[in-house]
Amino acid sequence: MDLKITKVSKENKKTIPVFDSNLGFGRFFSDHMFIMEYIDGKWTDPRIEPFHNLNLSPSTMVFHYGQGIFEGLKAYKREEELYLFRTKKNLERMNNSANRLVMPNFDVEQVLDAIKKLVYIEHDWIPDTKGYALYLRPTMIATETCLGVRSSNRYMFFVIAGPVGPYYPKGFNPVDIYISDKYVRAVRGGVGEAKAMGNYAASLLAQKEGQKYNCSQVLWLDGVERKYVEEVGAMNIFVSFKDELVTPMLSGSILPGITRDSVLKITRDWGMKVTERLLPIDELIEGINSGKVLEVFGVGTAAVISPVGKFVYKEQSYTVANGKTGALSQKLFDYITSLQIGLEKDTLGFVEKICTSDFDEEFLKLVTGNTKDGVKSNQKLQKSGVDQSIKKTECNNSSLRGLH
Ligand SMILES: Cc1ncc(COP(=O)(O)O)c(C=O)c1O
Repeated sequence: MDLKITKVSKENKKTIPVFDSNLGFGRFFSDHMFIMEYIDGKWTDPRIEPFHNLNLSPSTMVFHYGQGIFEGLKAYKREEELYLFRTKKNLERMNNSANRLVMPNFDVEQVLDAIKKLVYIEHDWIPDTKGYALYLRPTMIATETCLGVRSSNRYMFFVIAGPVGPYYPKGFNPVDIYISDKYVRAVRGGVGEAKAMGNYAASLLAQKEGQKYNCSQVLWLDGVERKYVEEVGAMNIFVSFKDELVTPMLSGSILPGITRDSVLKITRDWGMKVTERLLPIDELIEGINSGKVLEVFGVGTAAVISPVGKFVYKEQSYTVANGKTGALSQKLFDYITSLQIGLEKDTLGFVEKICTSDFDEEFLKLVTGNTKDGVKSNQKLQKSGVDQSIKKTECNNSSLRGLH
């Protein structure tokens, strides 16, 4: 892919916000974006350019028929090192979403390369504080201008980025959850297992209902019988019983979360008994009442781990783990957030460090004014306790050397 790069001019650079508790989530966007168009059966003109508004006709198909999908992932920084966490999985899932909505696939390796370059260019926008990150939002929309229900012949793909703090303003604290037995998020055979834009619009009314009970998120039950637990908010859910950690099996209406998969692999690696199965809501409620349920937590890229403090179901309240963060939630949160910034041994191969050796000379020259040859091996890295098992062990140069 011949990636064209246009850097923002000095005078058009935005002011980078302060990376503190006011940063919030999804409020600020960096200086550049990646963009390409699908025309005549191929992706064309891939480029990184200054962040800009889109100029689209009101007859653009995505506005009418909702043929739009997206992803959410993060890049991390620690001591001048840049890290990605299972980014390829996000891009593969996006191609699966595209298949479900009859949209074109893209080349995962090429888009991964563009994302690495975008992250590298935007390195100043990445907070260097645990729990903070650069959030990346790959998006694909149908852009043919036509009214008529069919798949579009033209598409736009873009990736925007912005610094984010912890997803919940109150931080890593238990949240209260409304169990909706009226509205559903998705049905089997529908688009629930795709990251389709419409799924999120469909979730809003139940969220509004939950707010009446002071609940910030909704627990979704299955769309047919309202009998089985599916997801919580925009997260997958785990229930820790005394003898078993359970998450609903992927049924076709559940989004196959990357964090869900990571938690499954990590807890199995820790030797825990973990089961993917149908989880009846009655079993969850009975387990809370009898004490068999030790803790419940949501898992997703934005919040990583989000403990549940209380459920509201059919006008009754059910407190979980005394309304406190459970031991397993805390352990997983600490482990994953450390892993993401290279502070844990990466035995499962989840973490990728971005290195200057990932890039060609022309790109480095453009960004840094230096060449690869000018990049010396970073002594600090060898001494810093950064996990050397992270992929690309050949990468012994600092991500950002030469940029400051
Ligand atoms: C509906 C839904 N479920 C689950 C998740 C968690 O997925 P992941 O762990 O890949 O962020 C998300 C977030 O992407 C989501 O939107």
